Amino acid sequence: MNQVLVSAPSNIALIKYMGKIEGSGNKPTNGSLSYTLENLRTFVRLTEIEGGKDQWKLLVREDLEKMDLSEKGQQRFLKHLQNLKDKWGVTKNFLVESANNFPSDCGLASSASSFAALTLAAAQMFQKIHPQPWGEDKKVLSELSRQGSGSSCRSLFSPWAIWLHEYAEPMNLPIKDMHHIVVVVEDSKKEVSSSEAHKLVTTSPRFEGRVERAEIRLKDLSQALQFDDWHMARQIVWDEFIDMHRLFETSTPSFSYMTDASKKVLEECQKLWNKWQDGPLVTMDAGANVHMLFRNDQKKSFETYRELFKNEFKVLAFEGVKSDVH
Ligand code: PMV
Repeated sequence: MNQVLVSAPSNIALIKYMGKIEGSGNKPTNGSLSYTLENLRTFVRLTEIEGGKDQWKLLVREDLEKMDLSEKGQQRFLKHLQNLKDKWGVTKNFLVESANNFPSDCGLASSASSFAALTLAAAQMFQKIHPQPWGEDKKVLSELSRQGSGSSCRSLFSPWAIWLHEYAEPMNLPIKDMHHIVVVVEDSKKEVSSSEAHKLVTTSPRFEGRVERAEIRLKDLSQALQFDDWHMARQIVWDEFIDMHRLFETSTPSFSYMTDASKKVLEECQKLWNKWQDGPLVTMDAGANVHMLFRNDQKKSFETYRELFKNEFKVLAFEGVKSDVH
């Protein structure tokens, strides 16, 4: 029986993918840059089955979350598998089992890690059944993954990935292993999905100039990280997520993910930065939770922030690991 088990990490964008080219299979309107979150992973087990059709089931394992995918989520996942089968020319059917190693009730995006993991698992399986000359090319796999979920194309590279058009590529930057905190201020399901957000932002008057702003920040942030200018990097990352959230708030109809609790956490971060003139890179996705990334030498600061927010909120904290591509 042919079977593979693969995992892939999530990632957090510091320059955001927000806005896509209509009907393009998730091609972005602007380039993005992300840091790979090695500790937040999706596991996918693919098993060849006789006859019938492709099926999804929860991957049950002691260390993984026991949370079923919605019917819609399963359909989207299986559709991606079908696209991959078509690309490889594979006609066999499979049982797809998947699960995350991070709590699914905390509003953390899992589409990046899950689509990346499914793409990698399928590639491993299909290369055994019907090998293709491009079947192990990470750029091709990134492009295929993108068609399932845009941000997942960055999860194939670690620790940094840059995504400009069709596929993501690794970016070589001196900072390799950051500590990561997520302050979980909201754990209910988002009312506006990221797919809807990509469409709605184009109605904002602020969308005009957005592509240019993001491109400039992408260039400036790459340089700041290259030359270890942490202060500059922190400012760019902050401006960038605020820019994205302003797009949400000025869309028609307008919407917002930011809650009073998010604002409180952001204010606290700003206060501490002003006091110490140092601190983490702070960012938010299309959600209410606040992500913080600390340099490896900021272990003490990482612990201080963790303790500070722990009193009031659920906090996920991960010490930096040496990032290998899995
Ligand atoms: O990949 P999607 O369609 O879920 O979009 C993700 C968009 C953001 O998470 C908000 C930003 C990003 O670049 O990951």
